[in-house]
Amino acid sequence: MGILAPSILAADFKNLEQQIKLVENGGADWIHCDIMDGHFVPNITFGPLVVESAKRSTNLPLDVHLMIENPDKFLPDFINAGADYVSVHVEEVVHLNEVLNKIKELGVKAGVVLNPSTPVSSVKEVAGKIDLLLIMTVYAGFGGQEFIPNSLQRIKEAVDLRKESGGDFLIEIDGGINAETAQQAFQAGAEVFVAGTSIFNADDITEAVREIKSVISK
Ligand code: DX5
Ligand code: ZN
Repeated sequence: MGILAPSILAADFKNLEQQIKLVENGGADWIHCDIMDGHFVPNITFGPLVVESAKRSTNLPLDVHLMIENPDKFLPDFINAGADYVSVHVEEVVHLNEVLNKIKELGVKAGVVLNPSTPVSSVKEVAGKIDLLLIMTVYAGFGGQEFIPNSLQRIKEAVDLRKESGGDFLIEIDGGINAETAQQAFQAGAEVFVAGTSIFNADDITEAVREIKSVISK
């Protein structure tokens, strides 16, 4: 059974709590928070204050995806705001092992993220200690992009890496996910599915969640 994590990046922030309730009603499992700083990626989104608002709106786990420079500096802020999972990009973090230790010491689950041009093998050395491996299925930076088909091959590589390393992490995908791409990725071995536009831009948000859940539940 796949885990569905709607990304609030595409939500209507005027009614964040209500938008979160709509995805909860459809069976969403986690809430995904996209943090962008205008440096690591060109776009700016939101920070710990909004994460904290999301926390007060739901009991679902918060999955915080940091697309910022020096993420280690801000770990306590996001964790105090209520993050349950914190993921950092391998393209940004020099001392990856140390940063993962810090996330765990702060008491939450630790994830690493790979942009589409970063080899899956680059996380080999930390595969035994992570809780989550996020394979970007678009380049990090903006919502509303199209799923990159080669991602299916990369999901399979992540499944193999987990086997070889004896790791125990969930394989997550993010970007361009709708019912069709979720189904393909589910068959390739993905376990956590982030979707923003296809859910929050749908006429019926709750139904859009149900539709994706149905293809990742078989
Ligand atoms: C992209 C973000 C994604 C994005 C997903 O940098 O990490 O989480 O918001 O949005 P859609 O579903 O619109 O591709
Ligand atoms: Zn994301």
